[in-house]
Amino acid sequence: MAINVALLGATGSIGKSTLDIIRRHPDKYRLFAISANRSVDSVIDIIREFRPQVVAMHDRRAADTLVERLQENAMAQVEILGNADSIGALPEVDMVVAAIVGAAGLAPTYQAVKGGKKVLLANKEALVMSGKLFMESASKYKALILPVDSEHNAIFQSLEKCAVDGRLHYDTSAVNKLILTASGGPFRQRDLSTFGDIRVEEACQHPNWSMGQKITVDSATMMNKGLELIEACWLFGMPLDKVSAVIHPQSVIHGMVQYNDGSTIAQMGAPDMRTPIANAMAWPERIQSGVMGLDFTQLGHMTFDAIEQERFPCYFLAREAFQQGGGLPTILNAANEIAVEAFLSGMIGFTMIPRLIERCLSEISDGHAFDIESVIDLDSKTRDYGRQILKELQSL
Ligand SMILES: NC(=O)c1ccc[n+]([C@@H]2O[C@H](COP(=O)([O-])OP(=O)(O)OC[C@H]3O[C@@H](n4cnc5c(N)ncnc54)[C@H](OP(=O)(O)O)[C@@H]3O)[C@@H](O)[C@H]2O)c1
Repeated sequence: MAINVALLGATGSIGKSTLDIIRRHPDKYRLFAISANRSVDSVIDIIREFRPQVVAMHDRRAADTLVERLQENAMAQVEILGNADSIGALPEVDMVVAAIVGAAGLAPTYQAVKGGKKVLLANKEALVMSGKLFMESASKYKALILPVDSEHNAIFQSLEKCAVDGRLHYDTSAVNKLILTASGGPFRQRDLSTFGDIRVEEACQHPNWSMGQKITVDSATMMNKGLELIEACWLFGMPLDKVSAVIHPQSVIHGMVQYNDGSTIAQMGAPDMRTPIANAMAWPERIQSGVMGLDFTQLGHMTFDAIEQERFPCYFLAREAFQQGGGLPTILNAANEIAVEAFLSGMIGFTMIPRLIERCLSEISDGHAFDIESVIDLDSKTRDYGRQILKELQSL
């Protein structure tokens, strides 16, 4: 019988790659439910092709428009759910792909965890914001968390593991280090003195990967690698000093595990998210993803470099926030989202992104988040504070 999939963020970059895997394996997977925010046209295309039973739009007006459009097109058989956060917890759902971008993904992903589902995690922000609570809930509700982020999926593939009683157990006893690779983004070699002139279009051009806008800017600042570092610590239960990142501009190796006998196991592949998505969907089996294996005769050389603090301060802010703990990773994530939004709308320059985050980290009292509601409160408090800083900057 086909596995019922709920795809949160179906219209985004990860959403589309997931649809491609489902399209290739109609016997194995059935798209049961989808959610999106405002992209009504794309949702209608998905409904036409995959005929999901349940659809939810986060944005109320988009939901109303969708209902009208479905009626006009005689497609009223689809159920439109009022609460977009709950589709991952529906009883018919077996597997949830969490592919909403940003903090907006926390509540729906958390619902899926509480529903004890198999959760394929692309939305790293959810884990950064609420790591301890998230992992404790996964354990309590027996939700199997499978990493989709390419680096984490690479490490997942390189670690010894087993699923016992609905939970994943990693054997990290002989592991010295988990290593995430980073492409270095578009500004790896740019003259530092010109960072103030970086234009939005330049930051939105990733050299190797095709992704949504927010993660593309996060890759340019390398906040993405900082968020991934935190994600890796939580997913694999590793301390920060055993997780590191290295710049590997060719993006051939996605992640590595170094063992205490001197061995390093690396996962390699083309920079195409369909590989980690297919791997997580089918684990412990393997299925066709549509991605060709590497041709080693065409690869040329592979290089590795350390991450410079002056060039990529966001990566170091993330390390520091995680090290200090408490609510700081939540503040970091919210401040980053506000800063990236402001950069994309032309309100601030590229170099202001780390400055705004730094101010939020040092000026907001973090408190302690004992439940998801208080994580969400701290997230919105940080957003308000960040917006206040932006207003001050505009009035200067
Ligand atoms: N793209 C990659 O290659 C990649 C790789 C690794 C990890 N990730 C992670 O995967 C997540 C998604 O990234 P992406 O690049 O696919 O993003 P994206 O292309 O921007 O897509 C985001 C998706 O989230 C939906 N969405 C946005 N706000 C929402 C809300 N409030 N409620 C419900 N849905 C909402 C969007 O719907 P609308 O279309 O209606 O706006 C869209 O379907 C991020 O956390 C990212 O860090 C991405």
